[in-house]
This record gives sequence, C-alpha cells and structure tokens, in this order.
Amino acid sequence: MSQDLWASIDEYINGHLAPPDPVLEAALTDSAAAGLPNISVTPNQGKLLFLLARTIGAKRILEIGTLGGYSTIWLARSLPDDGKLITLEFEPKHAEVARANIARAGLDKVVEIHVGPALETLAVVRETHPGPFDLIFVDADKQNNPGYFEWALKLSRKGSLIIVDNVIRGGDVIDSGKSDAGVVGVRKLYEMLAKEPRVVATAVQTVGSNGHDGFTIALVTG
Ligand code: SAH
Ligand code: DHB
Ligand code: MG
Repeated sequence: MSQDLWASIDEYINGHLAPPDPVLEAALTDSAAAGLPNISVTPNQGKLLFLLARTIGAKRILEIGTLGGYSTIWLARSLPDDGKLITLEFEPKHAEVARANIARAGLDKVVEIHVGPALETLAVVRETHPGPFDLIFVDADKQNNPGYFEWALKLSRKGSLIIVDNVIRGGDVIDSGKSDAGVVGVRKLYEMLAKEPRVVATAVQTVGSNGHDGFTIALVTG
C-alpha cells in the first residue's frame, strides 16, 4: 500500500517537475531491453543530483557506478560547455549501453567512461585527471563504499560535495539481522562520515517508485 502511494506521488512530482524527456526515457528503455537491472535513480532524484551540481557550479564531476548512464545524463546536463564528467563502470555491457545512451543525449564529448573495477580505475583517473572533482556521486557496489569514500576525499577539494546513494536500503542499515557485505559497507561509511574531520555530512531517507532508501551528502570542508 505505501509503496503504491510512494510510486504515485513520484508520478505526481515528476509530472510537474521532471516531465517526460525522450532522451532519458530512451536511456531507460534501452537499458531494460539490454537486460540491465532497473536500479537507476528516479527522475526526481536525478533532478536533485542535477540541481546540486548546478548549485555548486560543478565543472568536474566523478561518478562511481554508471549502469546505463541515466544518472550520468542528469549530472552531465548540469555542466557548462567546458565541463567534464568521468564515470566508472565494472560491467563492459553496462558501459556499452551507457555509451549509446550518452551519445544520444549529445554528451559523448563531456562524459568519459572508464571500464573496470572502480578501485582500480580510480588510480588511473588520479593520473589522467589529477585536478579535484567538484561533485562525486558514489553509486556502485555498496561493500566498497568505504574505499570509494576515501578516494572521494583524495580527489576532492574544500567545497566539493560527496553524495552516496542507497544508504538506507529499506531499513537494512539498522537491522541487526542483516550482515551482508553491502550493508556492512554502508554502516562503515556512516562511521567514517561521523569521525572524518574534513567533512560535514547528513543523510536523508527517501521513498518513491524505487522503494525506501536514501543518500548521504557530505561537504568537504578541509
Ligand atoms: N548510477 C546509476 C546506477 C548504478 S547501479 C544510475 O542511477 O543510473 C550500480 C552500478 O555499479 C552497476 O552498473 C554495477 O555494474 C556497477 N558496479 C558494481 N561493482 C562495481 C565496481 N567494483 N566498480 C565499478 N562499478 C561497479
Ligand atoms: C542496487 C544498487 C543501486 O545503486 C540502487 O540504486 C539500488 C539497488 C543494488 O545493487 O541492488
Ligand atoms: Mg543507486
């Protein structure tokens, strides 16, 4: 019942504020047709990412976890002409679908996809794009959130935003019966955020067509 209501309210919100966009819809349709899992951010969440990037005037964005490029397109659309978005994806098939979706969005000059395990490609990114990123969106395998957060700190500057998706997972985060690697990675992230003097952070729960979840937002302050 609540799930139906959350989904209907997402439809209501998106009907007003994130209306049908052929390029974004085609990205989802082609992702589904290629057999990719249906785990992209929702339209209103994508728009939140876009708004946050716009708010800070982001010119360089790093995304960890591309899937079919849905959140990538939202984020890349926030960038100025000379902006750059680097996105990291483990699965070659996901990256291939994303590449086509990003090209259709006219963003192939702005977006660079690196294929491989992110903990390895991050080291490559540091060599090829040494400048700090203004916004880092972490949305890949949850067990590696601690490692991704450490990298995000290394690749950021004072004033950067680090956003991590899926930090509630339907309540699993506080369920003592849950101890899979993903949940453990999310809990460790909270501990790191709490004691890290270089960030101020919060977390927000979300409900919507993709269930009950949430994200953390950390501002790098030092
Ligand atoms: N950000 C996307 C959703 C990403 S889903 C959106 O909202 O549209 C998570 C993605 O992370 C999947 O495509 C998965 O293949 C990828 N992933 C999983 N483990 C990874 C790893 N070690 N390195 C990079 N990407 C990984
Ligand atoms: C999963 C990953 C995501 O990034 C997400 O938004 C939802 C689910 C998953 O791996 O199950
Ligand atoms: Mg996610």
